[in-house]
Amino acid sequence: MTSPNPSWKPGDTVESPVGEMVEIDPASVSATDMYKLIIGSIVPRPIAFVSTQSPDGQDNLAPYSFFNGVSSNPPCLMISVGTPRPDFQKDTLRNIEATNEFVVNSANEWLIEPLVHSAGEFPYGVSEMSEVGLTPLDSVKVGPKRVKESAVQMECRLLKTVQIGDGSPGSSTVVFGEIVFVHVDKNCYKDGKIIFDNYRNIGRLGGFGYGKISETFEIPVPKIR
Ligand SMILES: Cc1cc2nc3c(=O)[nH]c(=O)nc-3n(C[C@H](O)[C@H](O)[C@H](O)COP(=O)(O)O)c2cc1C
Repeated sequence: MTSPNPSWKPGDTVESPVGEMVEIDPASVSATDMYKLIIGSIVPRPIAFVSTQSPDGQDNLAPYSFFNGVSSNPPCLMISVGTPRPDFQKDTLRNIEATNEFVVNSANEWLIEPLVHSAGEFPYGVSEMSEVGLTPLDSVKVGPKRVKESAVQMECRLLKTVQIGDGSPGSSTVVFGEIVFVHVDKNCYKDGKIIFDNYRNIGRLGGFGYGKISETFEIPVPKIR
């Protein structure tokens, strides 16, 4: 694929379809409407398929799309765990706070139906991994199991949590994890790089929408200095 405007050069303007704006002050809309605006605008979001374990060894698995990498030295990623209602803590956060460990498994096309199913509110202690027919594998450096069917599995240790908001619905706990071990499917890895055509990762959009990475193109960054 070529890039959208391959003939563009420095000094050119762009043809933009952007016109009249709707102005939104977060102070004047509900947390639910802000949530819809954020998840519809910040797209596509990668999905962390997060496996954790309770202190007594019960497996837990759930998807989180407020997710990204944040640094490579130390290798670090983040997920953000929301508060859907007052005094309610998601199992993933409860387990991470109790054990300091989790695994981020990739969300590949072939996993998307069980991945979405695992987001159902299963009671604490129920293993979504077996509920959705996925295979737990022992990790190397952490206690929580990894998902055999995911093409990349990142074993993480908790670095820190940051509370955003006061615990009311819509507020979140951001979890930063140091990546301490990585497993990558050989078919998806060559010369130190991920092969996207085989990796086939899914992105989350707004509402119940998801997207495949079906068209890619490359544009090198210029060397200015
Ligand atoms: C694709 C997808 C992405 C999600 N992303 C998030 C997220 O970033 N943060 C969050 O708090 N909940 C997110 N959810 C909802 C959680 O997966 C859901 O609340 C789940 O029940 C949490 O499970 P747990 O209690 O086992 O951690 C997402 C759901 C789906 C289907």
